[in-house]
Amino acid sequence: MTVTANIVRYSAPGRINLIGEHTDYNAGFALPIALPERTIAVFHPAGGDTLVVRSDRAEHSVSFPVTTQPGDVTGWAAYVAGVVWALRGAGHPVPGGALLISGGVEMGSGLASSAALECAVLGAILGAGGPPLDRMEQAHLARRAENEYVGAPTGLLDQLAILFAEPGCAQLIDFRHLSTAPVVFDPDAHGAALLLINSHAPHRHAGGEYAARRASCERAAAALGVSSLRDVQGHDVTALDAVPDATDRRRARHILTENRRVLDTVRALERSRLHEVGALLSESHASMRDDFAITTEHLDLIADTAVRAGALGARMTGGGFGGCVIALVDATDVDTVTDAVRTATRRAGHPEPSISRTYPGRGAGG
Ligand code: GLA
Repeated sequence: MTVTANIVRYSAPGRINLIGEHTDYNAGFALPIALPERTIAVFHPAGGDTLVVRSDRAEHSVSFPVTTQPGDVTGWAAYVAGVVWALRGAGHPVPGGALLISGGVEMGSGLASSAALECAVLGAILGAGGPPLDRMEQAHLARRAENEYVGAPTGLLDQLAILFAEPGCAQLIDFRHLSTAPVVFDPDAHGAALLLINSHAPHRHAGGEYAARRASCERAAAALGVSSLRDVQGHDVTALDAVPDATDRRRARHILTENRRVLDTVRALERSRLHEVGALLSESHASMRDDFAITTEHLDLIADTAVRAGALGARMTGGGFGGCVIALVDATDVDTVTDAVRTATRRAGHPEPSISRTYPGRGAGG
């Protein structure tokens, strides 16, 4: 955090989830890294009870009272208003003033741009004399903003990934115990690269599909007589035979197998077995495609093409229905994989993807 006179600057990265999708609200496991790209919030507290928010990505500024309530503000600024509402709801005063947002994390790309915005704004407001909140409390507040103010029923993955990230590492998150543990992730050291392939097909979580997946998982847990699918994690997937609805059963199977893949990925990374990591990424994609039904033909094409062109593995990352694919690639195959994905998407009539080599960045801070 940088404080100049009364001005506070705070930034928060986007995240890439290496593996462990939709496991967060099922009390499971995930393994995210922070992106180098960051969203920056600069707060000028000025007293009064109005906040004026401006973003370098939006034409108009948005003003709202610090007493804002859900429904008052919509669009990108709702994430900002939601943080103010959540802070006040937890009994912490928020002064009026001006907030300037400059965004390095593309909205709608499945890289947690919403949580990056929430965490950047939260850090800037807290830095201007707010209460000392530990990072876990910040994660809960930011999620409340998203769930209850914006109305997107998301889990805690993005906020924890952003707040607890460390450079050079992924974080193994256990959502039951709300703990994080760093796992060294340094593909360069093994002659490999992590490619981030942005399909430029946008996605949204306030829409119904995310909520429908969540409801399926809750129904499956209820049918098994447990409070969350984590309670049957140690069991074979045949334990799911007791779930009467075939769709809910498949959704639950993704959660159980995905949790196992997260832990297997951690073990493979600890033993520097990148081929195994690659295979697990591709299995995760297949599970998201066949059991959880959150990929699209466009994303399947990108992931399949990357693997056929020599990637060790590839998968969609994030909530689904658009956004980005990651591919783990031998450094010598980066150009071949990149060219193959560009050619295949062009031939299929999709937008030109952005493809970059990426690295685990640092968590939210000044
Ligand atoms: C979105 C949500 C997260 C998580 C992922 C899927 O990013 O915000 O809480 O559920 O989707 O893993």
